[in-house]
Amino acid sequence: MNDLETRRVVLGVSGSVAAYKACELARLLGQAGAAVDVVMTAAGARFVAPLTFQALTGRPVHVSLWDASQENGMAHIDLTRGADALIVAPATADFIARLAHGLADDLLSSLCLARDCPLLVAPALNRQMWEHPATQRNVAQLRNDGVNILGPAAGAQACGEVGAGRMLEAAELFDALVAVCQPKRLAGKRVVLTAGPTYEALDPVRGLTNLSSGRMGFALARACAEAGADVTLIAGPVSLPTPAGVTRVDVQSAQQMRAAVMAQLPTEIFIAVAAVADYRPATVADHKIKKTAARLTLELVATPDILAEVAARPDAPFCVGFAAESRDLAEHAEGKRRAKKLPLVVGNLVQDGMGGDDNVVTLFDAAGAHPLPPGAKPTLARAIVRHIAEMFHAHH
Ligand code: CTP
Repeated sequence: MNDLETRRVVLGVSGSVAAYKACELARLLGQAGAAVDVVMTAAGARFVAPLTFQALTGRPVHVSLWDASQENGMAHIDLTRGADALIVAPATADFIARLAHGLADDLLSSLCLARDCPLLVAPALNRQMWEHPATQRNVAQLRNDGVNILGPAAGAQACGEVGAGRMLEAAELFDALVAVCQPKRLAGKRVVLTAGPTYEALDPVRGLTNLSSGRMGFALARACAEAGADVTLIAGPVSLPTPAGVTRVDVQSAQQMRAAVMAQLPTEIFIAVAAVADYRPATVADHKIKKTAARLTLELVATPDILAEVAARPDAPFCVGFAAESRDLAEHAEGKRRAKKLPLVVGNLVQDGMGGDDNVVTLFDAAGAHPLPPGAKPTLARAIVRHIAEMFHAHH
């Protein structure tokens, strides 16, 4: 089942040429099974006819606060009652300003006040209007009020200028809605994750590392946060943005990663996604190692196995391991699960996923192997979180 079926989204459209992209968003939402109630400002209705949205959503479109056909005359609060999200796309500079000041002089701005669902705002404005201190102040105020500001993107603008202010594309807005509509399967649970490679220094400029991009671990951290968890992500050296709502601790070596994890215990769930180096140089040279001979032998010593140590504690959290293998996936993944006494191991073949956007994974637990449909890492991460949450709640 996709995550928008059975959801109801209110789509607010204010007066910008980017309103045409809201048509595509309405179509994507409808295709995913969401019920979409479109609310337009008077200016919004000058860019795209309400009839277009009515045809795309199969539902009446609301433009006026004074709509007598609403049975109890309460459209300004009825539409957001029970809604899963309210998204204003496009949001003009004027609409953002009114929202920041809590004005409620039309239907859409009233609904933005009368709601208990998340509010997402996708600005669409000219570059100079976006950069203006007044707009920046208003946006900062909205962020502070807990509003989710999506974009804007930079690029060519309808006015002929180039810069920041373009509304995000419909598919990006759709993804943001999928994220906020995730069921809160881990509400109130504390999750600690490791992600990325480690870097084991050899001298001040060289070290041993691996090709882990950290993408899968970051996607999982994000999926846990979307599911309502309190998430701490301990990341090896990667250049990825921190997912919204996630606390991040940056480390380099396996030893630092171990210390950072231990400092977070106890926790309820621990997900070890990091590709931790199994060995590190026995000594780290104080100065750059010089090329003096035709051969150089490195002595390596084993690093601590963070996951095994956490799983062996008397107060062990629900532990999830990852197994990246180049062959015999089931045998190795199941072997790691038993050796480290883990309830769940996520296995993948390195040739299928490492470093890329997509992955193919199989979950291994006491009940056997559960292959997930191949997909983008964020989608897979949500499916893995669903499985973790089910097992976690069954255990506790
Ligand atoms: N792990 C860890 N600390 C280590 C090594 C691995 O926490 N020092 C975790 C990884 O984050 C992953 C799982 O253990 O969840 C991987 O298990 P492991 O047996 O260490 O995998 P590999 O290092 O790939 O093992 P091998 O090289 O034997 O295949």
